[in-house]
Amino acid sequence: MLRLFFYTDSRNVTLIKVLPLRILMSIGISALFCAPIFAQDEALTFTPVQISAGAKLFSDNCAICHGPKMIDPGGGFFDLRTFPPKQRPRFINSVSNGKNSMPPWKNVLSQEQIGNLFAYVVAGEPK
Ligand code: HEC
Repeated sequence: MLRLFFYTDSRNVTLIKVLPLRILMSIGISALFCAPIFAQDEALTFTPVQISAGAKLFSDNCAICHGPKMIDPGGGFFDLRTFPPKQRPRFINSVSNGKNSMPPWKNVLSQEQIGNLFAYVVAGEPK
């Protein structure tokens, strides 16, 4: 392998020229694939209307277990202040279908209402 360095034929020279270009190109391509992740972050901006609708739904339906204003009363309920903001699908799924001792909400709340609850949990009360 080391022998390669001692050859100075034109083929090796082009290889050296081409390599940095390849690296640059692959960085460009990975940046392209990262774009949807940035887009997902932007989706985390909620309107005040969504958040206040979520706050009302929360105190009517969820506070009894998760505590008023999401302040976890303890006793095995999930502390919603720690819910990861990037896991929207997990939130929608757990709330819609229930999880262990949490009942499902899909027959009680619409998908829009569950979306508003997500807005409230992620962006509602100061953490
Ligand atoms: C009857 C009590 C009860 C009510 C009412 C309740 N929850 Fe829960 N919730 C729980 C319990 C218990 C857990 C923990 C489930 C587990 O991981 O075992 C939980 C977990 C969660 C989680 C985390 C799920 C996960 O993926 O780990 C979310 C989000 C959540 N609740 C949201 C809500 C929302 C929003 C409401 C109101 C619509 C609500 N909960 C109402 C009991 C309740």
